[in-house]
Amino acid sequence: MDRSNKPSAIGLGASIPQPTVSIKDSTVEASLPSGESATIHLYGATVTSWKAHGQEQLFLSENAILDGSKPIRGGIPLVFPVFGPPPKDHATSTLPQHGFARNSKWEYLGKSSAESADSQSDQAVKLDFGLSHTMLSEEFRKAWPYEFGLVYSVTLTKNSLQTQLQVRNEGTQNFEFQVLMHTYLSVADISTIRVKNLESKTYIDKTRNASSHTEASPALAITEETDRVYQSLDPSVPIVVSSAADDQPLFSITRDALTDVVVWNPWIEKAKGMADFGPDEAYKNMICVEAGSVSGWQTLEAGDSWEGGQSIKSRL
Ligand code: BG6
Repeated sequence: MDRSNKPSAIGLGASIPQPTVSIKDSTVEASLPSGESATIHLYGATVTSWKAHGQEQLFLSENAILDGSKPIRGGIPLVFPVFGPPPKDHATSTLPQHGFARNSKWEYLGKSSAESADSQSDQAVKLDFGLSHTMLSEEFRKAWPYEFGLVYSVTLTKNSLQTQLQVRNEGTQNFEFQVLMHTYLSVADISTIRVKNLESKTYIDKTRNASSHTEASPALAITEETDRVYQSLDPSVPIVVSSAADDQPLFSITRDALTDVVVWNPWIEKAKGMADFGPDEAYKNMICVEAGSVSGWQTLEAGDSWEGGQSIKSRL
């Protein structure tokens, strides 16, 4: 019998390497066969590492505290349900700065293979994390007594890292929230980068008594302490961090339902003043570009849910 045309007994699919996920102590790490990886601490569901193109893309302070006693200084802490110091007359008023999501232990819900937005043949892996009111410390539950469920999804693809948050109101009372993905991007030298696509946008300058300004620069250079909330942006227009020398994009960030972007660098004095920020000079190696919804409040009615997220592409 001529068997020359017989298909191989073992399908080719069986030999294609698959993404791997490992869980160690309080961290979950995902890797793609092509070499990219992401590490997420259950404390805060904080992404603490994203490696792509053979290098680390996120800044993590050398003095970051990883034992769950303080929010992690670097990576992508998640800010929820309030941004900054809570306003006195608001339901969040007794919460700490930036809320409780980054100071709470999340649950790992599992992985799914995700389709990469870039190409269907590229591999991707999606990790889901959950936090609900029953998991909060008594102190946080008292300070913000709403029944909520959060699902935070971190998707690693060959060319991007995506973070997506779903907020559900599982109670009978409406609640208001703010949310922000406080991304610390790693840069070789702050003096050699520019932040683009903010021109003509209104921003609140937190270093100047929260006064309102209009961005004049098509390519913002960071030359001093910078703490600005850019408002009413089109989430589909990427914020681009580029190299000043040749205008090459280093990072490009598109958002989904997040219309504010905070640009933050503590600069010399503030960096020295933060015990968990180190070394002192490391302010030169980071820029925070934080996608969020923080200018006003999202109201979530009982039974409703909300979703928003970001996709970061590196060194395009
Ligand atoms: C930024 C704020 O998002 O976070 C800054 O705009 C703040 O005002 C910074 O200083 C860091 O906050 P924290 O609480 O992590 O020190």
